[in-house]
Order: sequence, then structure tokens, then C-alpha cells
Amino acid sequence: MYRFRRLRRDERIRAVMQETRLHPKDFIYPIFVIEGENVRNPVDSMPGVFQYSIDCLDEILDRVKEARIGGVMLFGIPACKDPQGSQAYARDGVTQRAVRHIREKYPEIYIVVDVCLCEYTSHGHCGMVRGEEILNDETLPYLVKMAVSLVEAGADMVAPSDMMDGRVAAIREGLDRAGFTQTPIMAYSAKFASAYYGPFRDAAQSAPGFGDRRSYQMDFANGREALREIRADIEEGADIVMVKPALAYLDVLKETALTFDMPLAVYNVSGEYAMVKAAAERGWIDERRIVLENLTAMKRAGAKIIITYHALDAVKWLG
Ligand code: PBG
Ligand code: ZN
Repeated sequence: MYRFRRLRRDERIRAVMQETRLHPKDFIYPIFVIEGENVRNPVDSMPGVFQYSIDCLDEILDRVKEARIGGVMLFGIPACKDPQGSQAYARDGVTQRAVRHIREKYPEIYIVVDVCLCEYTSHGHCGMVRGEEILNDETLPYLVKMAVSLVEAGADMVAPSDMMDGRVAAIREGLDRAGFTQTPIMAYSAKFASAYYGPFRDAAQSAPGFGDRRSYQMDFANGREALREIRADIEEGADIVMVKPALAYLDVLKETALTFDMPLAVYNVSGEYAMVKAAAERGWIDERRIVLENLTAMKRAGAKIIITYHALDAVKWLG
């Protein structure tokens, strides 16, 4: 009989044997920036998460800086929405101004921007719309404009989350043409049409006005198709590929890690966060232990980068 318990005898040897260790640099923290002044709106379904106006951002940016995490991911919520989502690529759009603010005041913070139109369009879809159809190729130039304008404002990395076909190639070409050959693209490659995004759509005010996103986001039943999506984004020039959501898709994450020698990101999404928070508030689970277990599972499955609303708490708990 082999005695596995020899290497579990006490805390010292358990620490030596630990295969997966979380580090603050593993985490990217999402931040919601809203137009206006003196705004610090709590998001009801995401306890601990707020929408901040730019003049209130420093409160959270100070904590991000202190935690020395990998970076932030910005989501903008404009005052005005229109069918083309024009605030997404306006020079003085709320996200562009937030990026400039962070770039000036917090040079040490790595800024990732989510590139998608749904927070900016009046219909709430991630692309241009004709009737009830979400158009693919017509959407690409808008995504390119958005990516370029955010990088011009000072963003370090762009993360297209729209799931239009061909967006990575289009954005790569647009960035290169604008002289941003060194700006990486983190593609939301296998993004599933998921009920786990519910709380986010309250936070980002981005719920679709009609229909749903199933004509562009993936069917959650499809693991093999996820690998094809990932391969396509790699071929189009993605620097990092992402699987989203996290916990219900760790099989996809693991298979991606085994199949492709690419840096992997995973998005631990709003609904996953809300479920943990809700159970913890009732005293039904131990939040700290559950969160560290979940995040460790994501890293163990192959994630290099974990985008998570738990980032700042996790760093505190890691000590
Ligand atoms: C925008 C976008 C979404 C999320 C990230 N970028 C929502 C969606 O596709 O409806 C979800 C993030 C989360 O749930 O935390 N396309
Ligand atoms: Zn979107």
C-alpha cells in the first residue's frame, strides 16, 4: 500500500507539495465606469461591486494598486445610447476618458478594455441590427473603431467580447494600421450564451432589448465547437484566448489548455460571483474558502489569467 498521507501530515509538508498556487498577478478585476458625477451605485445582484463615475474611480483604483493584481478590465456605461453605439468610439466617450484618467494617474495599472457594443447600443445587442437580425460584417468596422479609439486613449490591451466572426483579424489589422502593432488582443473566443451573465447586464445596463444572444454566442452544449472557435481566433492573431464563463466550462478550459500552446484566460462571471455571495450572506458557505477553491480550480484547469470580481478579496485572503 502506498501511503499518500505521508505528504499530507502537517501544514509544512502540505505547503511544499501544493501543485497550484494563486498569485495576485493571476487576477484581472472588472470595473464599471458610468457617465455622471459623484456616482457610486451599488449593483444589487453583485454585492461589493459598484458603478463608479470617473471622479469616484480613485477609491477602487487605490485598492487595485495596493493589491498589485495583473490589471483591470473596463466596462463603460454611456449616458446616451443609439443604434450604432456611437459612444463606444467617441473620443470623449466615458470609457475613453476613464482610460485617460487611469493612464495619467496610475501608470502602474495595466488596462484591459472590453470591446463590445452592447453597453452602447439602444437595442442592447453586440452588433449592428437590421430588423431582428444581428449583422456580422457590418459590425466589424465599429469594433475596429472602438478598439483603436481606446488604445489611442491609453489602453494596454483590447478584449473583444462580441462573438462576431472575423473580429480578431479585423481588429488586428485596424490596430496595426493605426501603428499599434504592439497592443495585444485577448479574444473572448469560446463565449457561451449563458444565464450566468444576468447580474452583469444589470451592472452594465446591456440587456438585449429584443431576442437573445444565441445567434452569436455559443450553445453551451458544444465543447468541440469551442475548440474550433479558439483555433479560428488564434489563426486570426489573438494573443490570448478566453473561455467564458468559468466553473461550468472547466472541461472546455482544460481541453483548450491541452490542445493549444497559447496563454489562456478564463472569465469568472457575474452570475458565478452572485451565487457565491448569496450563499455566503446566508451563512450557508464559507466565502473565503469557497472563493479560493474556485479560483484554484480555474488555474489548475489551465487558466493563466483569471478575470474575477473576487480579485481584491482573494488577494487579501491569500495574505
Ligand atoms: C459584453 C460582455 C458581457 C460580459 C462581458 N462582456 C455580457 C454579455 O455578453 O451579455 C459578461 C460578464 C459577466 O457576466 O460578468 N458582451
Ligand atoms: Zn456585447
